[in-house]
Amino acid sequence: MAEHKTKLIEELDLFINARNPQGELGDKLLDWMTINHENLAQWGVSHLDISKDDIILDIGCGGGVNVERFLKMSENKVFGLDYSELAVKRSIQLNQTAVDEGRCEIIHSSVSEMPFEDESFDIVTAFESVYFWPDISNDLKEVRRVLKEDGIIFICNEAVPKKDDERQAELVELLDMNIYSDDELDEYLRQAGFSDVLCFLKEGPDSVTNEIITWICVIARK
Ligand SMILES: C[S@@+](CC[C@H](N)C(=O)[O-])C[C@H]1O[C@@H](n2cnc3c(N)ncnc32)[C@H](O)[C@@H]1O
Repeated sequence: MAEHKTKLIEELDLFINARNPQGELGDKLLDWMTINHENLAQWGVSHLDISKDDIILDIGCGGGVNVERFLKMSENKVFGLDYSELAVKRSIQLNQTAVDEGRCEIIHSSVSEMPFEDESFDIVTAFESVYFWPDISNDLKEVRRVLKEDGIIFICNEAVPKKDDERQAELVELLDMNIYSDDELDEYLRQAGFSDVLCFLKEGPDSVTNEIITWICVIARK
């Protein structure tokens, strides 16, 4: 029992970094997320049509693994943005060659006020990040501002609200996060001026861990 509790506390100490990875545990969590979000990211991206000339921004880029992925899918510029300085540093390290070549930029900023001109991007993505956005309604409007006409927003999360899930309730409280359902995301996106909202859900046992998962991926057009 004592051992179980210590493990839980260690786990919570680690996961508290998901909101803003910092220091040694932040580093450890970025490694953990890079590995553990891979299946989710691959599933989500399979719903996204990416052209060679798309300019892409990944918000809440964490360790930069999705920036790396997009650099292989588009021949145009790929940007990452995160308000954790550590995440920015790690994303630059991972994509150093593309950064040096001028094909990739990693920006330290919050989603709420991004240092980009209007209509800069074809696609804006957010993997496991919207939970932490300070004001989802306004932040989605900010995303819409930086998207080109007909540009695409893509949101991909490994969590949807579950009533009797104690672990989820614990994490929500610990991290002060918001977990959104497909209906809620649909509503927020439409209110922010997006259209053609498409929601995809994947439910059932994970092919690798056998854990029961509910993944969500939402795509909408400016
Ligand atoms: C759970 S991590 C996900 C990282 C990565 N996208 C992944 O899937 O592995 C959430 C990331 O969102 C970032 N984040 C949280 N709030 C943010 C905000 N307001 N603006 C920009 N980034 C934010 C955090 O710093 C963190 O790197």
